[in-house]
Amino acid sequence: MKKKIIVTGGCGYIGSHTAIELIGHNYDVVVVDDLSNSSQDTIDRIEAITGVRPTFEQVDLKDAVQTESLFSAHKDAAAVIHFAALKAVGESVQKPLDYYQNNLYSLLNTLKFQHQVGIESFIFSSSATVYGIPKALPILETHKAQRPSSPYGNTKKIAEEILEDFTKVTPNFSAISLRYFNPIGAHESGEIGELPNGIPNNLMPYITQTAAGIRDQLMVFGDDYPTKDGTPVRDYIHVVDLAKAHVQAVQRLIKQEQEQSFEIYNLGTGNGFSVLDVIKAFERVSGQKLNYQIVDRREGDVTELYASTDLAFQKLGWKAELGLDEMIESAWRWEQKYRGKEN
Ligand code: UD1
Repeated sequence: MKKKIIVTGGCGYIGSHTAIELIGHNYDVVVVDDLSNSSQDTIDRIEAITGVRPTFEQVDLKDAVQTESLFSAHKDAAAVIHFAALKAVGESVQKPLDYYQNNLYSLLNTLKFQHQVGIESFIFSSSATVYGIPKALPILETHKAQRPSSPYGNTKKIAEEILEDFTKVTPNFSAISLRYFNPIGAHESGEIGELPNGIPNNLMPYITQTAAGIRDQLMVFGDDYPTKDGTPVRDYIHVVDLAKAHVQAVQRLIKQEQEQSFEIYNLGTGNGFSVLDVIKAFERVSGQKLNYQIVDRREGDVTELYASTDLAFQKLGWKAELGLDEMIESAWRWEQKYRGKEN
């Protein structure tokens, strides 16, 4: 029998790509989403890509009553992958209570009610932002987490602390936290991808929207960092590789292979690229010149961050396979297809 996996935030960017990979691995997927920052069209797109329509449940996980009834209807699920969260860094600085309330209530309700019905496996969508300013690179999972520079990032750190406390006293319950570096790119079909609300905060959607003529100019936040070309270095990872890591994590939990009840893995490629590297690669891959200008640094940006990927390889048997060009190509295909400009 197919194992059922509940994917909260499954209409979002990373959640939808993960739903596709899970379906490809013969899991029965239940997408849960409140559609506050996504669209139900995603379910049609997942069906168009995979030939399988996932079950869809519109649920606000902040609401205990709705969450309890969700889990009583899906008691037979083998695991939960929890993506549902607000994620705009700048907005979180302006509206901290919204971020703490949304991201933490939904986590607490999910944990409480899945455990109540006996679903004892949980995967959390965390972020490399919990490392703060790295003391050494590539960064290891054992690097001490610091208070992130935004309330958004802090919800990720607090969530990991909640998971640590909960798994410690709940013998059958196992959790894996996946710390994403910089997910970019889109499904190769160009049917699903990243669709930020309003003006993008992140580099890649800003680049593709500028190239598509939606934004006038990309602002490069600082070229006076102590890096090879003065712009900050990040570990960009293809969202499809990232999605595949979730399948590996699910398998580890289902087969009860975990060595600790709470495990943490970096999900990155281990390679660092500067902002200018990404811009040049975009220009080469798309054949388009990008209008950009160097401006002041953005507050809260770290100089350089890239992952040690050894632990994920050893324990999950996973490593990223797609390179920067494939990330950019797919992001650009998605943007063009979405804007209806593809020939
Ligand atoms: C950001 C968040 C991080 C979050 C992640 C999600 C901060 C400090 N961190 O990471 O918490 O988990 O997104 O994907 O916001 N850049 C420009 N111009 C732009 C946009 C970005 O030059 O218009 C530069 C940034 O200075 C940075 C790099 O591009 O050096 C990547 O930025 P971004 O995509 O926003 O990711 P992070 O800041 O690394």
